[in-house]
This record gives sequence, C-alpha cells and structure tokens, in this order.
Amino acid sequence: MPDPVLRTIGLTKRFGGLVAVDHFSMEIFPGSIRGIIGPNGAGKTTVFNLISRIYTQDEGEIYLDDVDISNADQIQVSKLGIARTFQNTRLFTGLNVLDNVKVALDSSAEYSMFSAMFGFGKRQREEKLIEKRALDCLELLNLSVYARQRPSNLAYGIQRRVEIARALVSNPKVLMLDEPAAGLNPEEVNQLMQYIQDIRVKYPELAILVIEHRMELVMNLCEYIYVQDFGESIAQGSPEEIQKSPEVLMAYLGEEEN
Ligand SMILES: Nc1ncnc2c1ncn2[C@@H]1O[C@H](COP(=O)(O)OP(=O)(O)O)[C@@H](O)[C@H]1O
Ligand SMILES: [Mg+2]
Repeated sequence: MPDPVLRTIGLTKRFGGLVAVDHFSMEIFPGSIRGIIGPNGAGKTTVFNLISRIYTQDEGEIYLDDVDISNADQIQVSKLGIARTFQNTRLFTGLNVLDNVKVALDSSAEYSMFSAMFGFGKRQREEKLIEKRALDCLELLNLSVYARQRPSNLAYGIQRRVEIARALVSNPKVLMLDEPAAGLNPEEVNQLMQYIQDIRVKYPELAILVIEHRMELVMNLCEYIYVQDFGESIAQGSPEEIQKSPEVLMAYLGEEEN
C-alpha cells in the first residue's frame, strides 16, 4: 500500500452550536477514488471547504503527502495540488470555455513551473503551453467543440464538465468533485462515469474524492466510501460493506420520512 496522498485527522468544524463536521478522519491513496455520502446537511461540502481551506477547522489536521497543510491558505493548497469543483457551478460567465479553463492555471504549481522554466520574457511560449494544456483537458472531456462558447449558452451537464476540466488543468494530485452528477439525467450520469474513467486512465496517479447522492455512480466508481450523517462518521468501507450497513440504511430511511 502506498502512503496516502491526502489525510485528515479528527477534522472538526462548528458553526455556532452546530457541529457541521465532527472529528472526520479519512485518507486517500494515489490513483484511487473514494466517496463521501450522506443525507443533505451531513457536512460533506464542509469537509471539502476545510480541505481546500475556504474554511478553517476548529480542530484536527490535514496532510498532503505528509506535508501539514492544516494552516495553509487556499492558494497554497491549490499550488500544492488540491483542486475541486463546486456543488453549484462557478464558471465565469464573461469568459469562453477555453478561457475558463486557462484561468485555473494562474494559481497552479504547473504555471509557476512554466514561469521558472521560461522566465518572464518568454511569456508567449508560456501562453502557448498553457493553451495546449487547456485544450488537452477540453479534449479529454469531449468539450473541444465548445472552446469558444460562453458557458451560459451551454447545457447544464456540459457546464459541469467544464468545471471538471478547469479543476484538472493544473494537474492536481487530488481532485475533489462535489456532487458532479447532481442535475444530470441517467444517460448523462453514465457519460460522466465514463469521463471519470477516462480521467483515471490519463492521470493514473490522481486521487479522486467525490461527494455524490447518485448511488449508481458511487457504487460503481468508488473503491471505498465514508458515510456522514449530521457531521458524524457513521460508516466506512467498500461499496458492498456500505450497502449492507444498518447505520447507512437508517440514515437514508430517516431522511425520506422528513
Ligand atoms: N458557512 C456556514 N455557516 C453556517 N452554517 C453552515 C455553513 N456552511 C454549512 N453550514 C451548515 O453545516 C451543515 C453541513 O452543511 P454542508 O457541509 O453543506 O452539508 P452537505 O454538503 O452534506 O449537504 C448544515 O447544517 C449547514 O447548514
Ligand atoms: Mg453539499
């Protein structure tokens, strides 16, 4: 077993009296895909917000490749190789698809590497490389035909894919997807699963952490699943173990009664 690329230990976040995330510990290995599931309000997105440093935890630690990033800021973790998408798409409406993907390289490690390699005077070559990287990501997600279009003119499912391309372009070590299948029809969910498989083939070392409600996606793709409910970890294990877990059934049946 390789060392985990990302690890959280006892991560806790409170909002006033509410414990949104209660001592959440997880790990993910290079090349693997793990899921976080649980009813609405379970604290899943808050976990992503803590790892990507949008929020500061009240307790707990986060390690990326054994580097303590518990007190890092958003730009630092992005440069160190953590990228994410959001539950609600956050694309720049004034930019076309290609530019939306290219802007993500502004704060990435790779971009700094280009600058170091070519110096600031070689801006044009750098720009060409950035464009090529972005176009490659668009191609991987079958988005090349939309490169010059504004996201707002595109179907929702396509916009969500642009977000994934934007997260991938910086060549992260960890990709976090927050409900990538939300709002997609069954056929689009199948396509998304295939795109995620394509990403894994192209980036064999990439670790993918996915929050999702659509069980067909979670159970098909994830090797290991963490189940959260009201901030607490109520179960974890393989898809087979999770499907049999009484705690998980309770949490989901409980939600349906509301
Ligand atoms: N910025 C915030 N301020 C106050 N409460 C928040 C904030 N963010 C999330 N919460 C609360 O924390 C809980 C967990 O939210 P969230 O992580 O978004 O859940 P999930 O993604 O599992 O649906 C919810 O009760 C939510 O209302
Ligand atoms: Mg959420």
